Amino acid sequence: MSLQHHSIKQAYDLPVGTEVTLHGWVRSRRDSKGVTFIELNDGSRFKSMQLVVDAGVVSEETLKQVTTGSSVAASGVLVESPAKGQAVELKVSQIKIYGTADPATYPLQKKGHTLEFLREIGHLRVRSNTFGAAFRVRNALTRAIHTFFQKRDFIYVQTPIITTSDCEGAGQMFSVTSLNVRDPPRTGEGSIDWQQDFFGRPAYLTVSGQLEGEIFALAFSKVYTFGPTFRADNSNTPRHLAEFWMIEPEMAFYDLEDNMALAEEFLKFTIRYVLDHCREDLEFFNERIEKTVLSTLEHVAQSKFGQIAYTDAIQELKKSGRAWEFPVEWGSDLQTEHERFLSEEVFKKPVIVTDYPKNIKPFYMRLNDDDKTVRAMDVLVPRVGEIIGGSQREERYDILLQRLRDSGLDEKSYWWYLDLRRFGSVPHSGFGLGLERMMMYLTGLKNIRDVIPFPRTPGNAEF
Ligand code: 4AD
Ligand code: MG
Repeated sequence: MSLQHHSIKQAYDLPVGTEVTLHGWVRSRRDSKGVTFIELNDGSRFKSMQLVVDAGVVSEETLKQVTTGSSVAASGVLVESPAKGQAVELKVSQIKIYGTADPATYPLQKKGHTLEFLREIGHLRVRSNTFGAAFRVRNALTRAIHTFFQKRDFIYVQTPIITTSDCEGAGQMFSVTSLNVRDPPRTGEGSIDWQQDFFGRPAYLTVSGQLEGEIFALAFSKVYTFGPTFRADNSNTPRHLAEFWMIEPEMAFYDLEDNMALAEEFLKFTIRYVLDHCREDLEFFNERIEKTVLSTLEHVAQSKFGQIAYTDAIQELKKSGRAWEFPVEWGSDLQTEHERFLSEEVFKKPVIVTDYPKNIKPFYMRLNDDDKTVRAMDVLVPRVGEIIGGSQREERYDILLQRLRDSGLDEKSYWWYLDLRRFGSVPHSGFGLGLERMMMYLTGLKNIRDVIPFPRTPGNAEF
């Protein structure tokens, strides 16, 4: 058997008459008069390859083992397919079985599984149409992100996963410790003696790479991080994960206007890229998951984002006359229902909300002259709500120090962050895009657990 490895995606581009060996997992098998039809999928593209096995070509013994879920190598020649929807099929001369899959117990049968059920079989759901499509889109999206920044001379910086500072100041962090949690060493007063811990002080999984990103921006001018981030908030919602991936560009010499322009260009670029590279997968989502996926993406790639100040957004929400689940009051944070209303009903496209009250935003955002609001920007999109959060950063030492104190944070542990404002401080800005929120927007999938390979949520870290 030939050892040359062609993916099924590649095989579709080979000329009729080429001899190939394809490897993959059987999606389905159908027998009709004197012929067996097998759908073989290797994940390289949405479409499977149809294998056609004429009676007598492959032994009964072997053919019997070709069942849904089994893994095989099939050799043969590519021929024109009489069936509609595919240019070629493989006329099989030989089949080798790698692994069988007992039809009585293989959980993934051809049709009709709910996304909830598939979540319970995280080790097998990747072999389904929906998850195949989702993770190819996710791959293309990550490529689009790197391409966008690399083309613009941004330096990719890997910020730490273990940290001792709380970037968002919200205290929603997972602890990292090597102490014996059942019997930790105690100080004289009876509290935990962190000096004896691995780092000599409490440490956590990072909630954001921004603070370290700022260090790099103040040397390389334009940088971005792209890595996992962790939040221990107990939000059991369809849009929150305890572990998610975030892209955080940080730019020296950028003000909020520049920041907003970059965010818009960035989202449009990645949407265009995925539309151009994952058509087949997006068409599946459009057909089976969310009928507006393709039309909204095409529309967004071309239209100018809306923009509104928080204070005006509150007016819009108040005058809507809707009965909100969460009250609309100047000073309280926007909830998903408000975010979706603004983008879906008021603007009917992505909208950037700016200048939020300082009390609901982190200490690092630049204070406005009104002393009440900060140079924040959230990008809200239909169906999902907040997809990006960002701001211009406070570059003035005294004001930053005051903001740290007002936020109840220990200024001593932010000494290096304050130092950046003492030595060559410049105006700078950045934002964070939640990769999974973007995935929800691109695919129309409504639960964030379905756009990350292995979701971590309250009570769940299986697989
Ligand atoms: O708005 P957030 O909390 O902003 C930051 O972390 C800033 N440090 C970013 C920056 O300016 N560099 O988070 C940014 C984005 C959100 O808009 C959302 O898309 C996503 O990260 N996000 C989550 N995604 C999934 N699960 C969660 N629990 C998320 N929390 C935030
Ligand atoms: Mg936010």
